[in-house]
Amino acid sequence: MNYRSLISYTALAVFVASILLWLRNYNSLPKLSISNPAQPQMFWFAFGDSYSATGFDIGSTQPSALNPMGNTALDPGTQSGGNNWIGYLTTQYNTSLVLSYSLAIAGATIDNSIATWGFGDMTSQVAAFQSNYASRPASAPWTADNTIVSFWVGINDVYYGFAHNDDPSIFVSTLLNKYRPLVEQLYSNGVRKFLFLNCPPSTRSPQVHEENNLPEQFQRHAAMVTAYNDGLKDMVHHFSDDHKDATVVFYDSWAFMTRVLDNPAEYGYRDATCINVDGSSCVWWNNLHPGWTYHKYQADDMLASLARLGW
Ligand SMILES: *[C@@H]1O[C@H](CO)[C@@H](O)[C@H](O)[C@H]1NC(C)=O
Repeated sequence: MNYRSLISYTALAVFVASILLWLRNYNSLPKLSISNPAQPQMFWFAFGDSYSATGFDIGSTQPSALNPMGNTALDPGTQSGGNNWIGYLTTQYNTSLVLSYSLAIAGATIDNSIATWGFGDMTSQVAAFQSNYASRPASAPWTADNTIVSFWVGINDVYYGFAHNDDPSIFVSTLLNKYRPLVEQLYSNGVRKFLFLNCPPSTRSPQVHEENNLPEQFQRHAAMVTAYNDGLKDMVHHFSDDHKDATVVFYDSWAFMTRVLDNPAEYGYRDATCINVDGSSCVWWNNLHPGWTYHKYQADDMLASLARLGW
């Protein structure tokens, strides 16, 4: 092959490649929809407790197209016997490449100065975000448009307040006075897409029934859950009102888990109270945590709410 034909073959190859690339992009162009602008890539930073922990180690391999959850080992990094809602949304119910960073810590409360079981809190998780991701490092070049932060916390705070016989409204407002500044901090960092989940009906978990037996105790625990969820909803409304340029989604995990516990057979479970480490034949994987099938059902149920965040 002479020099001239090499050039024309190269030109032809470049031409064909650009047509192919164009076709590919053309086919993957999002359908015109204001509520669901598809992103080529999304970043998701998750804060919370064991329901959201995935075993992600912030100091190790970062999420990438090859492993969208970073260095996470799905089991036992989760507390579900398999994947959890974050894993399902990231790798199965995703509509684009989602790089997810779960900074959640099992046992976490909102702030250890208010309530603690001796584990890391959400305050420390947001601090970890500050030192590792707020500056938008080359490994995580997130922007306001393509980034979601989620918060699912409260179970451990509620149990602490209940165990210490705290007044629900005073206790909850103390908690939320620590919670709101964490959200504001992320807003100041430039985050504009926020997802909040409330406290599930943990009063009905096997753990609360193993550790308590008086009707008064169940009522008091449930009252703490209600106070927390009412307070959180209020805080989220205020946050949303104060930041009109933010997209704020509130997902009612209390309502969804209540629905599953009220209709276990509909979801393939024997009853609402059994525990099985297989994570699939019972709602509960252990006495406080639902199994992976529950997480999968919930992730699926969340999709309608997540559309507003670009899912
Ligand atoms: C969903 O995520 C997986 C794992 O990252 C990826 O292989 C797949 O292409 C993604 N799906 C879409 C529709 O982008």
